[in-house]
Order: sequence, then structure tokens, then C-alpha cells
Amino acid sequence: MSDKTVTTLDLLAMKRAGRRIVALTAYDALFAGLVDACGVDVILVGDSVNTVLCGQATTLSATLEQMIYHGRMVRTGVRRALLVLDMPFLSYQVSVEDAKRNAGRVMQTTGAAAVKVEGGAWLAPTVRALVEIGIPVMAHLGFTPQSVHVLGGPRVQGRNPDAAERLLADAKALADAGAFALVLELMPAPVAEQVSRALAIPTIGIGSGPGCDGQVLVLHDMLGLNDGFRAKFVKRYAALADDVRQAVDAFAAEVRDGRYPDAEHSFSS
Ligand code: KIV
Repeated sequence: MSDKTVTTLDLLAMKRAGRRIVALTAYDALFAGLVDACGVDVILVGDSVNTVLCGQATTLSATLEQMIYHGRMVRTGVRRALLVLDMPFLSYQVSVEDAKRNAGRVMQTTGAAAVKVEGGAWLAPTVRALVEIGIPVMAHLGFTPQSVHVLGGPRVQGRNPDAAERLLADAKALADAGAFALVLELMPAPVAEQVSRALAIPTIGIGSGPGCDGQVLVLHDMLGLNDGFRAKFVKRYAALADDVRQAVDAFAAEVRDGRYPDAEHSFSS
């Protein structure tokens, strides 16, 4: 693994070489540092922070200030990965001018190397405008959590041929507008594979099967920290919530019966 910072062009080269892209979310410097040191290619400051850490039901109430706050923390932990920051709801949908101002502020204040936005062909002019002023854009298609109320919940998108065709057309429009990568969330595996094959830019799947050019998961989900959240596509690589509960129970028991602190954890002079 090279120490060189990952760029958007590196991701393109990985796709061309058939090397899968590894992406994870991070919301703070501590986890970002751990993940980065493992050689993950992309670290995403997802607006999922609003549900995972802040306990909200959806991502809709995430604010620009909140994303900047987390972005700055994550930046200090990242040495190598490409750092991408999610633009929150209403920070880019209202007008292209708004999108430029808000995404520009994110780039200036957090040190992120790119932003992520959710939407289909309707968003292509915004993507083009951001790229034109020097802001790399990762787009996000399929189930787009900021549209959860229109989509009727976290449902698989593109299940019938017309819907799959529309997703493919959306993906092409976003790629033509200059997006450097595309997150495909909750799509049938064959549809995501078809989209991935049709594009020169890499796709990064979440709940969209193995045919994507890379995969992303929410770190707290795959670590089993956020164990109240269950979804078919989330594979748990650890059970850290169980570790937390066991450690807290052990600490509480030792405090209550006077075993902690013992001599080893006390100062004699
Ligand atoms: O907000 C987020 O964490 C995301 C990923 C799940 C792709 O958008």
C-alpha cells in the first residue's frame, strides 16, 4: 500500500485495472485514523451521522454546520484516503448558486477533497457547475436517503424494467456531467452491475450486490456498534456493541463491590 494520497483519478485507474474500491464512513478523528491506517481508499463523512450518532430518524435534519464540524474532525485523522463529505439536505437542491456556495464552503473549511450529492438526471446541471469551479462530485443514486419520504422508506429501487432503465439514464447523465464516481444504494444486483458496466467512472455499491466497482458501508454498522439497525446488506465484521455492554457491566460491578480502583490503578504517593 502506497502512502500517496488517493485522488479521484486513482479511483478511475482502479476501475480500469479491475481493482475494487473500498470505502467506509467516519464521523470523527479517532475512527477516521483507524480506518485510514488500514488502507481504505475512500472515507465518507456521511450525513448518516445524523441517524447513527445523533439518534435522529432520518438524515433530513442534518445541517451544513454539523457536516462541517464532523468533516474537520475526520480530516485530522485522514492521511491517505480520499476524503468525501456529504452535502446535507437543502444545501444543494434549491439552486446551483446555493450548491456552489455551500460546497465551496465545505471544501474551504473541512479540507475534504470532494462532495457527495443525491439525485438523478435533474441534478446533472449542478454537478457540472460544481466540477467547473473545481469541486469533484460523487453522485448517489438508487435509494437516496434524503428522499426517504418520497420513496416510501428504504426500499430497493429499479425493480421493474422501466425503473431500471431510468436509473441507467440517470447514471449516464451524472457521469456525463462530470461526476467522478457514483454511489449505488439499494438496487437489484443485476441492475447495479449493468449501470457499472455502462459507465467509465467507478460505482460504489451499498446494498447493490457484487457487480459494483467498489463497496461502502457505514462503519458503525459493519462494526456491530449500531446493533439496533438491521438490514439484509449489512454484514457485521465485529460485535462491538456487545463488547461495550460487557465492559460497562464489568466496570460498574467492580466500582460497586470496591474492586476498582485497585493498587495497580492507584498512586501510592
Ligand atoms: O450518509 C452515508 O453514510 C451514505 C453512505 C451510506 C453511502 O450516504
